[in-house]
Amino acid sequence: MNIGVLISGRGTNLEAIIKAVKEGKIKANISIVISNKADARGLKIAEKYGIRGIFINPDGFSSREDFDRAVANLLEKNNVDLVILAGYMRILSDCFIDKFEGRLLNIHPSLIPAFQGLKPQKRAVEYGVMFSGCTVHFVTKELDNGPVIIQAVVPVLPDDTEESLSERILKYEHRIYPQAIKWYVDGRIKLDGRKVFVEKAVYGTVPVNPELEDF
Ligand code: GRF
Repeated sequence: MNIGVLISGRGTNLEAIIKAVKEGKIKANISIVISNKADARGLKIAEKYGIRGIFINPDGFSSREDFDRAVANLLEKNNVDLVILAGYMRILSDCFIDKFEGRLLNIHPSLIPAFQGLKPQKRAVEYGVMFSGCTVHFVTKELDNGPVIIQAVVPVLPDDTEESLSERILKYEHRIYPQAIKWYVDGRIKLDGRKVFVEKAVYGTVPVNPELEDF
């Protein structure tokens, strides 16, 4: 199976996924990393691991659809089966989602449906919730709202800042994202409407549900 990763920034989730592939935990190949930002640190990470990283400049396209078509073409040229959004800060057009729905995953640093959209960690701190976390989900046309594969919960502490909460959540992002991708690649994820079922996974565990197996 070939994986394509879309990024916009520092690429720590990308690196966690690359490591899981290199360690043989995820039995797939990352065939391309695409960034919409020239200076994304994630492009350097791809390079470090010998993975092809490409910057596509959105300024060169007259519409979101045209840009997304270029991204989709590049993914298809690289025979990508599974598309991973890892800190990709662009809303995808419907044509892109139509093409990849069911094989398009995202990670969002909140327990969706709470705090969908921008700056979820800042909003969680400001709201005063006692728990937040992160979610790996299938991407649908509704922003940060597709079927949930796995979630991790972390406490929110009285003196938390956006940064301290983000850091606590990020540690779990680096575990649940590779885990979800491994399950996908191993063909264990079944989708029934909004509901996801991971075959043979252990459900009912805290702080990660279903339970982590490999990370
Ligand atoms: C992560 O917090 C992810 O959940 C969100 O964007 C951030 C990307 O971080 N979608 P990184 O580029 O993977 O370090």
